[in-house]
Amino acid sequence: MIEELKRIQKEILGKLQDLGNSSKVEEIRIEYLGRKGELTNILKNLSKLPLNQRRKVGRLANDIKGNLTKAIENRLSEIKKESVEEKIDITLPGILPGIGNKHPITKTIDKICNIFIALGFNAVEGPEAETEFYNFEALNIPLEHPSRDAFDTFYLDTDTLLRSHTSPVQIRVMEKEKPPLAVIVPGKVYRPDASDATHSFMFHQVEGLVIDKDITFSDLKGTLSIFAKRFFGEDIKVRFRPHFFPFTEPSADLDISCIICGGKGCRVCSNTGWLEVLGSGMVDPKVFKAVNYDYNKYSGFAFGMGVERLAMLKYGINDIRLFFENDLRFLKQFKI
Ligand code: DAH
Repeated sequence: MIEELKRIQKEILGKLQDLGNSSKVEEIRIEYLGRKGELTNILKNLSKLPLNQRRKVGRLANDIKGNLTKAIENRLSEIKKESVEEKIDITLPGILPGIGNKHPITKTIDKICNIFIALGFNAVEGPEAETEFYNFEALNIPLEHPSRDAFDTFYLDTDTLLRSHTSPVQIRVMEKEKPPLAVIVPGKVYRPDASDATHSFMFHQVEGLVIDKDITFSDLKGTLSIFAKRFFGEDIKVRFRPHFFPFTEPSADLDISCIICGGKGCRVCSNTGWLEVLGSGMVDPKVFKAVNYDYNKYSGFAFGMGVERLAMLKYGINDIRLFFENDLRFLKQFKI
């Protein structure tokens, strides 16, 4: 009987090692330990043994039953682990999470700022909710000035409004710092414009300001010509056309030769061969006065450009609203 028990134990342990399937293991369990199993039979027949053997054989049979039950459980959990591992094919390439890309306006702002940063400018920001003093008065746009009409914008209370340009940051920078300074200021601006293909009540500008001793109009021309060529391409031509801004004197608009027709004349440049890119000028003495800078000691130039306009020209986009509609079919095209 003892021999028989040891044989059963050896047999089961041997078979278990070779089984890779949990239902086969279950068959083994039933075959030996089930209600009619071999080991169960032996345990049932213990009473037939002479008393002196019954105890010894009984204890051994119970020990073996315990061992085998444990061995079966272990094998089952091993099989379970192996089958999960088999299902995960670690050699398969992973699933890439959807990676977004920067908005074309953010990219254009980065591009503009990086050109100026490479020329030694610092990038700074200012508040979108401004006071009349910073948005108008300090920039020599008094209450009765006609140019204020186009700008008179969203008021939050009688004195606070959403800024209509980034120029107020010029004043904030000059109040805080002494020359020499060269800053570039990207940001959102707001105007009471009805939205159409070229207008939006919110858009972006980048402002620039350089102040030092002996800054002249040639510094303005040189800096902005380098910018235009680095942004639009070395082949373009530039010209400065006299203009008026209350906060600069003299003032000039910068035009580039049309990047669509190369200057021959087309629909985009209204057959002029030129595209207006930004406004600029030498800082007006009245602005220096507003920030207590000595006009006899310092001079400087300033400029401001519309980011959407530049992006539209560069990428051939014909409707400003595309930037704000969040249509992924449009936005996905700017992966660069
Ligand atoms: N603030 C002007 C606008 O929104 C743009 C501008 C023109 C800014 C000339 C300047 C400048 O700093 O010198 O139309």
